[in-house]
Amino acid sequence: MDLKLKNKRALVTGSSSGLGYAAALALAKEGCKVAINGRDEAKIKNIAEKIQKETGTEAVGLAGDVSQLEVPEKLIQQTVEAFGGLDILITNTGGPTPGSIDSLDEAAWQKGIDLCLMAHVRLIKAALPYLRKSESASILTVTSLSVKQPIANLLISNSVRSATIGLTKSLALELGKEGIRVNSILPGWTETEHAVDLIAARAVKNNSTLEEELRKQTEMSPLGRLGQPEEFANAAAFLVSPAASYITGVMLNVDGGMYKGIF
Ligand SMILES: NC(=O)c1ccc[n+]([C@@H]2O[C@H](COP(=O)([O-])OP(=O)(O)OC[C@H]3O[C@@H](n4cnc5c(N)ncnc54)[C@H](OP(=O)(O)O)[C@@H]3O)[C@@H](O)[C@H]2O)c1
Repeated sequence: MDLKLKNKRALVTGSSSGLGYAAALALAKEGCKVAINGRDEAKIKNIAEKIQKETGTEAVGLAGDVSQLEVPEKLIQQTVEAFGGLDILITNTGGPTPGSIDSLDEAAWQKGIDLCLMAHVRLIKAALPYLRKSESASILTVTSLSVKQPIANLLISNSVRSATIGLTKSLALELGKEGIRVNSILPGWTETEHAVDLIAARAVKNNSTLEEELRKQTEMSPLGRLGQPEEFANAAAFLVSPAASYITGVMLNVDGGMYKGIF
């Protein structure tokens, strides 16, 4: 199937590694120009060069912490300057501080809100004037399966990401008439640095080993394994592409069947 992504222009935030990187690479492989983002300038520029070499598609690396008030607007402007417009926005960020009600302080909650909610709000708000000029505008928020099935010791993610889902659905309803599609992917456990760190932290907390915690985690999955970033990226590239032109307002689990509810 042709996803019709050739020469589209995308910004994928939080994409120096993990899910964001995999999504940016998948878009670039389809001929989509990609702006990628992470907090370390030298690292993100190197990765953009690597993507450009590997795919032959234009890629730019933009440094900035998306949880900071002024950064989202700056990233959108830099993307538009580089590519002359914007068709696709994937709002992805790092995960919030893990912990429970007793361990998380006010500062951690505030940081979690800036990272897991306000970064999405600010990126989308800054992108809208350009998306409105696109003939195939699409927004994808990256959230978590934790909004449907809370994950132990991830209280901020379980709480704050629900607001991002509310934002996603509201915008799908508001912006549909303008031809702008808005969806979210709710990833389940996918093998990235971040996920492995979280499982390793659980091993320390439970006085067990990483192998034991990985075994317990994969046992809960109908497919019997963690996901691979490329499996997330395939779904992301499809959802933001013109090939998904009649899909909006969808909260898609990419979780290997880990979510046990029917709806
Ligand atoms: N992997 C999973 O199993 C899973 C499951 C459900 C939800 N999620 C969520 O999906 C998102 C991506 O997960 P992941 O596993 O790919 O995480 P990851 O491996 O930690 O990657 C996060 C990416 O975001 C960048 N980043 C982190 N904080 C940033 C910030 N403030 N501003 C700009 N960039 C930032 C990191 O780059 P730099 O460090 O270079 O800045 C990195 O490129 C996270 O929010 C995570 O909680 C992941």
